[in-house]
Amino acid sequence: MRRAKITIIGAGNVGATCAHWAAAKELGDIVLLDIVEGMPQGKGLDLRQASPVERFDSNIVGTNSYDDTAGSDIVIITSGIARKPGMSRDDLMSTNMKIVRSVAEQAAKASPNAVFILVSNPLDAMVQTAWKATGLPTKQIVGQAGILDTARYRAFISMELNCSVEDISAVLMGGHGDDMVPLPRYTTVAGIPVTELIPAERLEAIVQRTRDGGAEIVKLLKTGSAYYAPAAASVQMAEAIIKDKKRILPCAAYCDSEYGVGGYFVGVPCILGKDGVEKVIELQLNDDERKLFQASVDHVKELVAWVEKNWSAG
Ligand code: NAI
Ligand code: 2OP
Repeated sequence: MRRAKITIIGAGNVGATCAHWAAAKELGDIVLLDIVEGMPQGKGLDLRQASPVERFDSNIVGTNSYDDTAGSDIVIITSGIARKPGMSRDDLMSTNMKIVRSVAEQAAKASPNAVFILVSNPLDAMVQTAWKATGLPTKQIVGQAGILDTARYRAFISMELNCSVEDISAVLMGGHGDDMVPLPRYTTVAGIPVTELIPAERLEAIVQRTRDGGAEIVKLLKTGSAYYAPAAASVQMAEAIIKDKKRILPCAAYCDSEYGVGGYFVGVPCILGKDGVEKVIELQLNDDERKLFQASVDHVKELVAWVEKNWSAG
């Protein structure tokens, strides 16, 4: 049986950690690409040498050439700068738009049938950038943010209740920004609504900590942003697609009539399978939830307007 081929662009913290998780799960053969010469080759070889110890059969190569990425099934884009203390994700826009546009164009030429998973920030605008740059069908372009944000929310709930993370199920929507929308009404712990287990003001504090989750880690690390959980989340998406699992996961997917979004990539629950985003699931939001979601979508639209305005200069 042919192994899946996974290209990871950007061999920095998130990219290299994606390679690590994907290899450990034996999801396929991995190509790690970066603009820096030698670094992806070194990390690829190092990871390959871990395989006899950790017992995984994955061919891992590092490269600076898109020729080596040809025919990939999955392309994960992590290239770009990460934020430092005091910066918002939006501050990365002008640098990362140029990088994402260029790498997406080159990767799509080499792998026109791949599903592209975007990670670079500001996430929702970078998904739109990759779509515009590649011209690929919308189902082949998807962004990672919701799984990470939901994982943070689930981790904080498990810490609050001193219970297993495995029993916590949650939905989170909107853009990957401070106005993301965790949905306590759709959060359960072993089937029990979380609102029956955690008092409202404690739950609100958890929701706020989730919104600030990325900044909390940036403040601690001082030199960059989170990468273990972001990489695990990205690899979960790759796994759902490679294994055609039809998982329902919160991802930045293209919504047109869905939720009345009108042609933007935003965080919504969707089904991920071999074709990429196979379906966007529409929840019946109440008035409060809809208002929060709309505010988040409006912010994404502002960022995309910036991309459109600056495209010809890019
Ligand atoms: P990093 O600085 O460790 O790695 C970025 C890598 O991209 C570097 O190795 C750099 O050489 C490479 N790169 C830059 N330009 C390139 C080009 N033109 N072609 C190929 N490679 C290029 O940064 P880190 O921590 O890995 O973060 C990467 C991005 O992911 C950042 O924009 C960060 O904000 C974002 N991020 C998004 C998350 C999400 O949930 N969507 C979570 C965590 C990070
Ligand atoms: C995070 O939420 C940096 O967006 C990244 O950690």
